[in-house]
Amino acid sequence: MNKHRILITRATFDEVVTDLRRNFDVEMGGDDPCLPEELRRRAARADVLMVWGDRIDAALLDAAPQLVAVCNMMVGYNNIDIAACTERGILATNTPGVLDDTTADMAWALLLAAARRVTESERWLRAGHWKGVRFAEPLGRDVHHATLGILGMGRIGRAVARRARGFDMPVIYHNRSRLDAGLERECNARHVSLEELLAESDFLSLNLPYSTDSHHLIGAKELARMKPTAIIVNTARGGIIDDAALIDALASKRIAGAGLDVFEGEPDFNRSFLALDNVALAPHMGSATFATRMAMARLAAENARAALGGERPPCLINPEAWERRRFR
Ligand code: DGY
Repeated sequence: MNKHRILITRATFDEVVTDLRRNFDVEMGGDDPCLPEELRRRAARADVLMVWGDRIDAALLDAAPQLVAVCNMMVGYNNIDIAACTERGILATNTPGVLDDTTADMAWALLLAAARRVTESERWLRAGHWKGVRFAEPLGRDVHHATLGILGMGRIGRAVARRARGFDMPVIYHNRSRLDAGLERECNARHVSLEELLAESDFLSLNLPYSTDSHHLIGAKELARMKPTAIIVNTARGGIIDDAALIDALASKRIAGAGLDVFEGEPDFNRSFLALDNVALAPHMGSATFATRMAMARLAAENARAALGGERPPCLINPEAWERRRFR
């Protein structure tokens, strides 16, 4: 009997691939994304796509008539046209839960780096400017006892909040729906309006998914409401912040700084960020530890295996597609 075919669009860990190869024909891409037409060509005979943020749209789905499932190897899935998958009865899955702490650690890394001017000072040191420890340079901002604001209080937002205890920080948050009292207690966090969040946060961490609703949720108007001493951190998705507006706010010192792991149009991000000292930059690496990326790859493989075995995948995004398949 012919084995089912899995196309893994980007290079991942050998252990995961070897494991899948026991039961399936597996083709794997390289480190970098391939062009859409190349992806369509390679997907043509696949039963499952395991994808790493690649754009999966109707044209790609139509080019892959055997497709049972698209298994994102990440938690965010704004790269996948879920409605188009559902219409075609194609299951879509992601990897929730396994990267919360690692991404929260990264938010803190960027928050601390921006507050204490770590990346800017490292550039200065590497450039050979260091002649002695100066008393009044480089002065950063205290993190401890400052107010941490969190926009988006899902699993990752809550993990960011829990870490604030060690810094004795009051935590405020804004979320579409308020957390129950137990979770608020666990996170030591107080629900506020978006306006209050913007006005009161010394550090504002964005931890919400990208969607048409969150597109440019933070633009010039919102940045103008923040304290001039505030620092904004984004480990969620590019496009939630209007990057041009943020660049203006940073250049004019309308806000004090930023720590960014994600950008609009990445990897072709707005190069004006590079001219600014008051921003710590990272290339979308919030979940990039060995253990976490391994857990993400394994969970995506588990979703793929379930879909090919006719079982409901554990991290199904579109249950309607599952219902369609069942009653076909
Ligand atoms: C995710 O899982 O959505 C992350 O952005 C990948 O690092």
